[in-house]
Amino acid sequence: MDVLTVLLADHNVVLRILRSLERGRGLGETEQSAQAELVTSLVVAESGHEAVEEQYFWPLVRKMVPDGDVLADHAIDQEKAGKYLLQRLENGPIGSPEFEEALATFIPAAREHINFEQTRVWPLLREFCSTQQLEAVGEKMVAAKRLAPTRPHPKAPAHPAVQKAGGMTVAVLDRVRDLVTVRRNRQPSGPWI
Ligand SMILES: [Fe+2]
Ligand SMILES: [Fe+2]
Repeated sequence: MDVLTVLLADHNVVLRILRSLERGRGLGETEQSAQAELVTSLVVAESGHEAVEEQYFWPLVRKMVPDGDVLADHAIDQEKAGKYLLQRLENGPIGSPEFEEALATFIPAAREHINFEQTRVWPLLREFCSTQQLEAVGEKMVAAKRLAPTRPHPKAPAHPAVQKAGGMTVAVLDRVRDLVTVRRNRQPSGPWI
């Protein structure tokens, strides 16, 4: 599976969750428990996605695309800001002013970030990478997603080497916590599972 197919599947999952979060706002107990589940799914989906982008996608952009560093730096800044917001969503509590403010900031920011990647970066990657390159990195990303963190870790450096080494440690700790909290069940399904 090539890089962009893997990432598009992730983006579509995230966009679906964002639409559900927008629709499901309300103060009733049912709405709040549905929101809690959606937030967990969003955090799991986003955390794994951005970690794998940092490990494999942005290094490929930096290497292959002219001015790839500028594009990657901008996107990683957006991702970093997004992780802080995801952490605030995780902290909740659902329905509190802090939660609502974080959600109202996160939703448009996430759409803008996805749009930036898909319209500004992906066409250049298609232009400057061979099909074989896109396939080879895509396969690595599919494998890495199975071990990716399930929490945002906004303070962790986004450098690919740190992600591959330190990221693995936090991912293992995330998954131990997931077993305790049954959070693993909230991992959105994708074509790689
Ligand atoms: Fe991203
Ligand atoms: Fe992305």
